[in-house]
Amino acid sequence: MNNLDKNKKKEFPFFKENKKLIYFDSALTSLKPKLVIDEITNFYTKLNYSNFRSVNVLSEKINIKFEEAIEKIANFLNVQKEELIFTAGATDGLNDLARVLIKRLKRNDEIILGDFEHASNFLPWIEYGKEKKIKFKYYKINEKFEIDVSDLEKKINEKTKIISIAHVFNTLGTTNNIKEIRKAINKKNKDCILVVDGAQAVGHIETNLKTLDPDCYLFSGHKMFASNGVGICYIKNNLLNKIEPFKYGGGNNIDFQKDKIIYKNVPKNFYSGTLNYPGIFSLSKAIDFIEKIGIKNIENYCNELKNYAEEKLKNFEEIKIINKNVKSSILFLEMKNIPAEDISYLLGRKNILFRSGTNCVKIKNEYFNQNKTIRLSFHIYNEKKEIDKFVNELENALKTFRKLINK
Ligand code: ALA
Repeated sequence: MNNLDKNKKKEFPFFKENKKLIYFDSALTSLKPKLVIDEITNFYTKLNYSNFRSVNVLSEKINIKFEEAIEKIANFLNVQKEELIFTAGATDGLNDLARVLIKRLKRNDEIILGDFEHASNFLPWIEYGKEKKIKFKYYKINEKFEIDVSDLEKKINEKTKIISIAHVFNTLGTTNNIKEIRKAINKKNKDCILVVDGAQAVGHIETNLKTLDPDCYLFSGHKMFASNGVGICYIKNNLLNKIEPFKYGGGNNIDFQKDKIIYKNVPKNFYSGTLNYPGIFSLSKAIDFIEKIGIKNIENYCNELKNYAEEKLKNFEEIKIINKNVKSSILFLEMKNIPAEDISYLLGRKNILFRSGTNCVKIKNEYFNQNKTIRLSFHIYNEKKEIDKFVNELENALKTFRKLINK
């Protein structure tokens, strides 16, 4: 074990206010380090302005800060800064992206999705696809709980226009092999657009988009230590130049008359309205934070916590470990005969927080009953002794249930 557990809690002011809380719900939203919180306060106390509008002392400052932030985000993802669109988060980005991409499709074109996508990478495609009578196909997963690439390849044909998948599944916790998926697409239909939802990946594992090579990649700031209400939608240059902006309004045009509108070039034609500057700057600080620790250290540490918890829970007869041996920060469990919500409630009363129930994945499958699942999701502020406490409290709760069941 590296020494991450000894130091990291101190950097999260949340724990000063919630001293006894054990937070195993980072896949829902991560806690925020002090430097991110300070950055948001700094924005409102020192800068509080908007760029691309006027020329004055504040606009100069915000222009410089904006350029620095966007360059940092681009370097972190290994893409060009002109390929980054700001969104309010993964859900917001996926809705806008689905709308503008589907607008370009024809009746009976095909989109491939899957049973393990969370609602935000499923419903927008289905809803916007209705009008165009899009045909949907669904990937299968293999025995390692990853997308089965050979099955996916068989499903791709000349009508397949979009494949939208998670980089890391929010329940199973597996990392999908994006590079292999890209190869399969290239073999069958080079024009098919690969959209990757990176909401559970960024800040947990390396997300080098040059290597992964998706056409679009989306994530939320709030799951990677930045503030709520900011996210990124990366769109590869050649595609970005072909699609219409997500939104229209102040800042995205050069001139408009009643009979003629001239829009700015990409990406500025996507910058409508006042951008979420505190959010964007918080993203930049979150990246500083991640890079200082090192993404490999974060990945290994979280995986170590997951393995530790898995080991401690493996002999409970009431628990099935669904994602056994999966390298992840997520431990996904199914309760046998005992309602997961009751466990969550009882442990919640002991200040231990985690998710139970469907986790936003609702399509029925052969691997688990969504209503009975528990998800523990770890991050760098968690410690093994918290897992010990969880296991003790779980044992106490189960004792109560065992008594009730045996009555
Ligand atoms: N999709 C988010 C989660 O997994 C909300 O918790």
